[in-house]
Amino acid sequence: MDYKKYILPHIWDLKPYSSARDEFKGSDGVFLDANENPMGSGLDVNYNRYPDPLQWQIKGQIVAIKNCSVDEIFLGNGSDEAIDLLIRMTCTSNSSSIIICPPTYGMYEVSASINNIPLTKINLTTDYQLNTNAILKAIDSSTRLIFICSPNNPTGNLMNRADIYRILDTFKTGFIVIDEAYIDFSNEPSFIQELSKYPQLIVLQTLSKAYGLASLRLGMAFANPTIIQLFNKIKPPYNIGGATQHLVQNALKNRPFVKDSIQNIKFNKSQLIADLKHINGVLTIFHSDANFILVKFIRAQELFDYLISQKIIARNRSNVELCEDSIRITIGVESENKELIQKIRVFYTKDDV
Ligand SMILES: Cc1ncc(COP(=O)(O)O)c(C=O)c1O
Repeated sequence: MDYKKYILPHIWDLKPYSSARDEFKGSDGVFLDANENPMGSGLDVNYNRYPDPLQWQIKGQIVAIKNCSVDEIFLGNGSDEAIDLLIRMTCTSNSSSIIICPPTYGMYEVSASINNIPLTKINLTTDYQLNTNAILKAIDSSTRLIFICSPNNPTGNLMNRADIYRILDTFKTGFIVIDEAYIDFSNEPSFIQELSKYPQLIVLQTLSKAYGLASLRLGMAFANPTIIQLFNKIKPPYNIGGATQHLVQNALKNRPFVKDSIQNIKFNKSQLIADLKHINGVLTIFHSDANFILVKFIRAQELFDYLISQKIIARNRSNVELCEDSIRITIGVESENKELIQKIRVFYTKDDV
């Protein structure tokens, strides 16, 4: 792929900011180069020094977990940062466009809007799969990015792999982003393993879900090293704070926690689904490959309001096209799920559906 053709020229030619930590990489010495406070931080752990701008230690750990090479990894302040940077490196408002497949994760549209990039929406089919023919038909010379979310938020299901391959095999004049935020809960392999075959592929993952680190803000983009270099060129120099880097390094050593979490969440999901099936007001429980389920209810809006009044906060998707009367429920711990079920039962018996 001739990347230069599909990256904005001012980004391709950009001379990036060179930080103090870019220019001197050693850890020993008298550091008088970054205008830091030499006294420390007033905390038990000192954070007075700027962190590693390219987060090499974390990347070294991720290589082993994701089976990729270190120059195929970009780390962002959440995967939302990667989404925004990708749009900024490939799209300009007067001659580029982006394809998304609603109902899907809202930040693709918001990021496109912030950057003033035209959006083409090709809705999922009624069974929440890609409308591949329509996507391929919608591609034109302005298309620079296609976002595919699999497992998809808010529907919870994986996209058919064959459909994704069809798009990868056809669209080569821009980039295909596969957002795998929830992949750890599914039984399918990641598309990271396809990077060498598809130079236009970018895979997004995050530590916010299965790894339990949403508050630390660590998102990952996997792509050809040329794309990764562009990410690094345009990101803020120290986009991942030192505290986050420190904690993530420790967390990534605790692989059993992640494995157990996934197992427990999957088990709790099957229990929750089994319980929901016995409730009258439940119309459809959509198949989920993620750590949440989308459920269609009778009088969903009222149920949602009732749950809020009972201090149970789910995500109302009733007003989203193709998700009418549906609520997205994150899988909680067993006691939380039981409480939810009990409240839903009360709601429907009290009003005698
Ligand atoms: C599909 C999808 N992608 C990305 C994200 C954002 O992840 P992060 O916390 O890494 O910004 C989310 C968050 O809910 C999501 O659902």
